[in-house]
Amino acid sequence: MAETGDGPQRGFFDIWSRVYDLAPVQAAIYHPVHDAVLGELRHRPARRILDVGCGTGDLTDRLRRELQPEVVAGCDFSAGMLEQASARTRAVRWLQGDATALPFADGHFDAVTSTESFHWFPDPDAALREFHRVLGTGGRLLVALVNVRVPATSQLAHAGSKAIGQPARWPTRAEMAGRVRAAGFTVERQNRILRLGGILIPTVLTVGVKS
Ligand SMILES: C[S@@+](CC[C@H](N)C(=O)[O-])C[C@H]1O[C@@H](n2cnc3c(N)ncnc32)[C@H](O)[C@@H]1O
Repeated sequence: MAETGDGPQRGFFDIWSRVYDLAPVQAAIYHPVHDAVLGELRHRPARRILDVGCGTGDLTDRLRRELQPEVVAGCDFSAGMLEQASARTRAVRWLQGDATALPFADGHFDAVTSTESFHWFPDPDAALREFHRVLGTGGRLLVALVNVRVPATSQLAHAGSKAIGQPARWPTRAEMAGRVRAAGFTVERQNRILRLGGILIPTVLTVGVKS
């Protein structure tokens, strides 16, 4: 079913889910980002982790296998992505839901991760408020995506993606930090992630803490 207006269309992701897990796609694009998130959580463990915009669940399942927390949940609005995710494992709690209205109680998690998804969320500030709501005090937010270098690139990319019917917003690093702070987090750090094409278009992991 398609979202209307400025929102991404779920059908696009349902189709994408069919090629998403191809090894070269994962190795070049997604694994360096997942490794960065796993590294952070190894350093500061969490017991209850929610992965938002989990896609086919590659990171979500690695969170479970490699960190062995008490609870791992994966949430995505695409039925196609979740179908692939639940075929991967039943040990994760998979839930269909929108990042801007998460189907979880207040304070339920102590870490929220979101990799390569945030730029698709139709209302990024509403999503950040939801991440804040579902985290307990001291809970950590780890959100990784391309952070463009200058606001003009961000505006151009948004206009271009909107024109082709799949609107996305890639913020600058400073804008991302500002949005995370405005949602009530302290920004602990922003780490650059090295991956293919990363010099031209940097990917950044922003870590926020709910105080
Ligand atoms: C590029 S994939 C990233 C998947 C995964 N996080 C990873 O790193 O491999 C982006 C995901 O965001 C999901 N998504 C986009 N908009 C969403 C929304 N508003 N709420 C929940 N999920 C959304 C898509 O369905 C898709 O699975």
